[in-house]
Amino acid sequence: MDLDAFTELLTPRGQEALARAGELAGADPVAAATALRRTYDAALTSAALTQAGLRERAKAKFGRDASVMYFTPHGLEQSTRAEVAEHRARRLMKMIEPPPAVADACCGIGGDLLALARAGCAVTAVDTDPLTVAVATANARALGVAERVTVRVGDAAEIRPEEYDVLFADPARRTGRGRTFDPMAYSPPWPVVLDLISRARLACVKVAPGIPYEFIPEGAQTEWVSYKGEVKEATIWTGQGGGRRATLLPGGHALTAPGTEATAAPVGQAGRYVYEPDGAAVRAHLVAEVAELVGGRLLDPLIAYITADDPVGTPWATRYEIEDILPFSLKKLRALLRERQIGNVTIKKRGSAVDIERLRADLRLKGDNSAVVILTRILDKPSVLLCKPLSPA
Ligand SMILES: C[S@@+](CC[C@H](N)C(=O)[O-])C[C@H]1O[C@@H](n2cnc3c(N)ncnc32)[C@H](O)[C@@H]1O
Repeated sequence: MDLDAFTELLTPRGQEALARAGELAGADPVAAATALRRTYDAALTSAALTQAGLRERAKAKFGRDASVMYFTPHGLEQSTRAEVAEHRARRLMKMIEPPPAVADACCGIGGDLLALARAGCAVTAVDTDPLTVAVATANARALGVAERVTVRVGDAAEIRPEEYDVLFADPARRTGRGRTFDPMAYSPPWPVVLDLISRARLACVKVAPGIPYEFIPEGAQTEWVSYKGEVKEATIWTGQGGGRRATLLPGGHALTAPGTEATAAPVGQAGRYVYEPDGAAVRAHLVAEVAELVGGRLLDPLIAYITADDPVGTPWATRYEIEDILPFSLKKLRALLRERQIGNVTIKKRGSAVDIERLRADLRLKGDNSAVVILTRILDKPSVLLCKPLSPA
């Protein structure tokens, strides 16, 4: 879909085609295209069907709003899930009053700017891609926040953060060769982002959860956010004090600690239960804090598995009851699973180089029972924990 096709989609005739394409969602694609082609030309048919398909896919991230929003395939993929963007906007609104003027330095289709505008911020946004700018503008209109939003084609480097209360940036982490984990390969590149941050009164920058700590500006607070147990992103906040924070959505639970150095957790013998901390706490180096919450200790000083004697309920970790612990040996593990007639295993690992799928095949599982197999190291010895899951806290 190019800019001309998208512009036509916004006309009354385009909207009619899009509505027809929406009604045909789920139908055979060739039949849907044939039906639309009776009334519309090839370009409009294709744009309408593409947009209707993207709206369907976008429901997972944007819920009911997806049915009135617009997307590009890349824009949808890179956009922030609504619940995460709303959390960030809520945090920002608690930090600053009255609702701030925000510059969004690379807005994409507007996942973040829409949440910010809905929370009451006035948002001025740029993106280098004209189609993406048109889509973000249409989204602001579709969601009724156009009067608080200005979007234009531009480069992040031209933004003057001094003129706003808050700088927001969510640099693209995709290059021609796919996803990048190197902030220097972000677009806009990290030095541009750092320059913008340094000139902003308050900055809020979304980055990949695996961002190396050395890239985090001194004095910033980094917040790792997970949604339904999956780490989605990290946000670097400047202008509001430093430290680390982990946030669990949708519950909104938060754990914080000062500085960047992890607190040392006690290490000790395996108890009856093992806890797998949420990835946001692991990334934020807050495992010792989770261990304290459950009255636990680490099985190994370098690995984020916590053990405890009681099944303490917490949103910060998944709990398992330990049935056996053995040194890692394929033969012994296979024999044990056979003896217990375990034919169904969930395999988890931390600190183990074992290939999970290969192990699963090598175990030649048989039987009607289920178990969780945890591969890890205990005081540097490759070990296996045979466990059963406990219901969530
Ligand atoms: C990760 S997306 C932003 C997603 C957005 N926060 C959302 O939730 O929809 C990054 C965007 O940055 C844009 N971009 C890349 N380099 C840029 C630059 N130098 N200046 C402005 N925008 C840029 C890309 O076109 C892309 O749309």
